[in-house]
Amino acid sequence: MIDLSTRYLGLELASPLVASASPLTKRLDGVRALEDGGASAIVMHSLYEEEIAFDQQAHDHFLDFGSEAFAEALDYVPFPQTSPGPEQYLDLLREAKAAVDVPIIGSLNGDTPGGWTRYAGMIEEAGADALELNVFLLASDPDVAGADVEAHTLDVVREVCERTSIPVAVKISTFWSSILDVARRLDRAGADGLVLFNRFYQPDIDLEAFEVLPRLTLSTPESARIAVRWIGMLDGHVDADMALTSGVHDAEGALKGIAAGATVTMMTSQILKHGPGRFREIEADLRTWLEEKEYDSVAQLRGALSRRGSRDEEAFVRANYKATLDAWRPPSTRRGPIPGR
Ligand SMILES: Cc1cc2nc3c(=O)[nH]c(=O)nc-3n(C[C@H](O)[C@H](O)[C@H](O)COP(=O)(O)O)c2cc1C
Repeated sequence: MIDLSTRYLGLELASPLVASASPLTKRLDGVRALEDGGASAIVMHSLYEEEIAFDQQAHDHFLDFGSEAFAEALDYVPFPQTSPGPEQYLDLLREAKAAVDVPIIGSLNGDTPGGWTRYAGMIEEAGADALELNVFLLASDPDVAGADVEAHTLDVVREVCERTSIPVAVKISTFWSSILDVARRLDRAGADGLVLFNRFYQPDIDLEAFEVLPRLTLSTPESARIAVRWIGMLDGHVDADMALTSGVHDAEGALKGIAAGATVTMMTSQILKHGPGRFREIEADLRTWLEEKEYDSVAQLRGALSRRGSRDEEAFVRANYKATLDAWRPPSTRRGPIPGR
């Protein structure tokens, strides 16, 4: 029997397949469905700094997803598109904790040090097993230097870590000059986990309305590559556990993340499309692959292809930019010679 058990943020999980923050957790039946579907831990949707600051209904950051969701796959009425506010968030967290056996990870989203970070302590009191902190900082001021953005992020992380004694994972973006340096400083600032990477939802231009509009597109399996690369590079440089989020759609995606060094691999898009039952299907495929390759456990695979674990130490570092570009062939050449010509 393959051992899929995994230790993430000090929590013993039955498998590395975790539900990332999504609208599914805005209702208790969504939380239950994730556990029933096979998620080994559940990250709640985020409580936002601005919701706390103004204690009013905040606009959801993740609009427009309805058309791709799997609404018909479960008997749900549509998920609320706005978050109900801090007190309701804590109530839901308490209820979720009582309703399921898998660990519940609270989620806070903000980018300035300040009073709102006290909610880290409240999330702990409400029963969360750990906290995921999403520092959603888009550097939009040309007068603010990159070093200041980094210092600011670290201040938020330190403040949150001081306000809670449960493990804290930090969900980060790709937008740093040196991801390795920032990740190591977050690790030293107290982060027990790093969640790679935050997907920034790029606005789109609607030519008809002649407006810039928010637009959410769900991930594709290719979205995982950037995180897999940096997890592979970070393995061995940080003590924090690493979680892969973005582009995990099947067992292959999860296995690649683990081979690069991820402790857990998280899913939202795939679950929104096909329902929480995907966790069990992917778990079965993980077992089959590991069995076929004669692994006894998922732990054996972890980091086997990271920069430090692999025989080809420089594979993740080498951009191989020129070789990659040179390898491109026009589609007709790739298909081989056309018969009769
Ligand atoms: C509709 C929707 C809502 C989301 N809500 C949150 C959220 O509240 N907090 C957060 O940190 N991430 C949120 N995310 C991001 C996901 O947790 C996840 O990191 C992202 O979708 C990439 O993973 P995936 O490729 O498996 O979808 C949301 C994503 C979607 C699609």
